Amino acid sequence: MEVIHLSVECFPIAKVGGLADVVGALPKYQRVLGIDAKVVIPWFDRPFVKEHEFEIVATGSFFQGSEELQYEIHKEKNDILGFPLFLIKIPGKLDREEVYCYPDEAEQWIAFQHAFLHWIQNNGIHPSVIHCHDHHVGLIPFLLQYGAVFRDLADIKTVFTVHNGQYQGWMSWSKGILLPPFDTWKWGLLDWDGLINPLATAIKCSDIYTTVSEGYLNELFIEANGLQGLFNTESAKGYGIVNGIDTAYWNPQLDTLIEKKYNKITVLKGKEENKRILCEKYNLSSNLPLLSFIGRFAKEKGADLLAEIFIKLFSVRDNICVFILGSGDREIQDELTDLALKFEGKLSLFFGYDEELAHQVYAASDMLLMPSRVEPCGLNQLYALKYGTIPIVRAIGGLRDTVIDIENEGYGFVFEKLNTDDAVKAIERSLDIYFDVKTWKGIRRKAMQLDFSWDRSAQKYVELYNQLLK
Ligand code: GLC
Repeated sequence: MEVIHLSVECFPIAKVGGLADVVGALPKYQRVLGIDAKVVIPWFDRPFVKEHEFEIVATGSFFQGSEELQYEIHKEKNDILGFPLFLIKIPGKLDREEVYCYPDEAEQWIAFQHAFLHWIQNNGIHPSVIHCHDHHVGLIPFLLQYGAVFRDLADIKTVFTVHNGQYQGWMSWSKGILLPPFDTWKWGLLDWDGLINPLATAIKCSDIYTTVSEGYLNELFIEANGLQGLFNTESAKGYGIVNGIDTAYWNPQLDTLIEKKYNKITVLKGKEENKRILCEKYNLSSNLPLLSFIGRFAKEKGADLLAEIFIKLFSVRDNICVFILGSGDREIQDELTDLALKFEGKLSLFFGYDEELAHQVYAASDMLLMPSRVEPCGLNQLYALKYGTIPIVRAIGGLRDTVIDIENEGYGFVFEKLNTDDAVKAIERSLDIYFDVKTWKGIRRKAMQLDFSWDRSAQKYVELYNQLLK
């Protein structure tokens, strides 16, 4: 069975968030299950692309409105990621350094989707399933069925995965003329509240939609940035499948990015050493428990609450250090900078995206805080668990599904309501137990024994594909 994953992020070529991690790992695990899984993403002007060998396997052109676009399909020659990887290059549209934040994003993603369909149609490529990830490729299920020039592709099944329902790819109807020709009387499938809404279109037109945890699936029925009604209407084809993690890459025993490798037997010494190095570098005391936050400074992640949480925390406890790694919202960044000055020696920061440092922070930390407002799955808590770092999370979406509170014989600390007092209480609870060395050791061992590898979830997707092809 041939399955093509279509996305605009894929680790390690282009990563902004967890979407990249999923697209960079799931196909590899599906191949182990006998699925001919491949990945297609835009071409990026990035190190991975320069450092690896690619060959151009197809070229073509099409009109986007009145503009003629040329595309090239670049295939990575050695399947170095464990699956065939194709990049679509379109000079002027898909040849850039960053993934997001260009003013012509709508044009970029329309071009990407059009080029993909044009390529497969004209080169006899006919996968059994196209698995689309997030709104950037949300028009594919519609275009397969109602694109006037893609009739040959209409029998291809589609699975659409919602990694984040907050972003929907809205565009004004003035962009409609940029789409490949389609059956215009079907325009209603593109529309939501007077705008073209690729996420809504995908939910309407895909054969199956999935979300990255069951908890999140249920939350979308209640609140989905305006689409909750639609998620309800289409619920018969909705499934929640929790993400896995790539344990070949996120594994303290094999991790070449951390100073001292360790496993569940040697975790005490291993963490101590990694913590010493991180704390020395960032001017923190390595004798105290280390709590970290890793992630985008976005409201969704609750990053706007961090400053208040830590002010309150330090007013009741001084036996803890904090490390924050992330970037995003300027205001949050400024607030945290002030905080780091105020709590010098207790709280340190690194602003930016740094994959290597992230590994080191998981390896060095005792706890990881995730006060998310919305969390479709969350991967950081899963990475943390693998590194014996105990997650302190808000009970939402995938966090609720994957972290069980120690009071329920679990391995983490969970708080229900999103407010800084409850977050601080959860941190305090973790501190009380941290100093009970034997109990903490037990929790950490339990955490490291959990299996959140892709094996099970990759299989669940395969079952869905089979169901569609029956
Ligand atoms: C998005 C979500 C995150 C999820 C990831 C991968 O980044 O915000 O919760 O883990 O996608 O599915």
